[in-house]
Amino acid sequence: MKRFSCIAAACGLSLLSCVAFAQKVDPAVAAYRAALADKDGNPGLLIIDKGEILYKTASGPKNATLEKCDFGLGPGVIKGAYAQMPRYMPDTQRVEDLETRLLHCMVTLQGKDATEIKAHRFANESRSENNTDWEKIVSYIAYQSDGMTLSMRKDHPKAQEAIKVGEVLYFKSVGPMDFSCATCHGKTDTRIRLQALFNGLDKKQAGDVMSSWPTYRVSHNAMRTMQHRMWDCHWQMRMPDIDMGSPGTVALISYLTNQADGVKLDLPGMRR
Ligand code: HEC
Repeated sequence: MKRFSCIAAACGLSLLSCVAFAQKVDPAVAAYRAALADKDGNPGLLIIDKGEILYKTASGPKNATLEKCDFGLGPGVIKGAYAQMPRYMPDTQRVEDLETRLLHCMVTLQGKDATEIKAHRFANESRSENNTDWEKIVSYIAYQSDGMTLSMRKDHPKAQEAIKVGEVLYFKSVGPMDFSCATCHGKTDTRIRLQALFNGLDKKQAGDVMSSWPTYRVSHNAMRTMQHRMWDCHWQMRMPDIDMGSPGTVALISYLTNQADGVKLDLPGMRR
């Protein structure tokens, strides 16, 4: 509570710096970030702590923890794993992002039901509910790569294919509005109402985005994951719900990750 009462005070004292910062990002988020000053104040850190407990707690029909899950660097190695994802996984013979892999581990190691997990993957849009276990665990694992260079492993042909498929999907107009991702994220300095839209074709802008997910969304009062963003933007396109972990989502995430190649991860991020 103490931390939050400081927000108002800090913003009041440094109103000028809040305004200056606000020129590039949504003013409300800019003020919030400026007030928190450094990321030690990001509320996402509390959610990450809860994710650590969940990661290490046995659950599911097999009563197992996730500590033996292999995110590409060997069973149980989570430090730096997210920084190399999406990547090709020999055991499943497909390219997986962090969330697709986590789903695989919950099913195989813990014996959980994929449909059931997907039904509770994201915190309620009504925002009456706090973060789901899913969002907490994903945020915790990703955070183990904070400060590292984001560079998708591309040595396998299927990884290269995923990037190419993602690029095609990015430009493909679909749905009742004939929108592609590039309609909204293919030019610089565009916005919808007050929300600035990033340009995924610009490597710097792609880097700014991809270095800060999972991200704490101030307006949702929750940590959000990249699979949630894929779902949300398909909604923006008036498309049916996209399946979490589907090859389409992994391809789009691969394309954007490759656009951001070499950026330093700065987690957890913070968004409007
Ligand atoms: C109709 C416009 C529209 C389309 C089409 C669209 N998006 Fe978005 N996207 C948005 C908006 C608006 C936001 C910002 C949401 C906010 O701030 O509330 C956003 C945010 C994002 C973000 C997070 C940006 C950040 O700042 O961290 C990503 C990543 C993203 N979109 C990817 C995609 C992908 C991939 C597609 C295609 C499948 C897509 N979007 C299609 C409107 C769109």
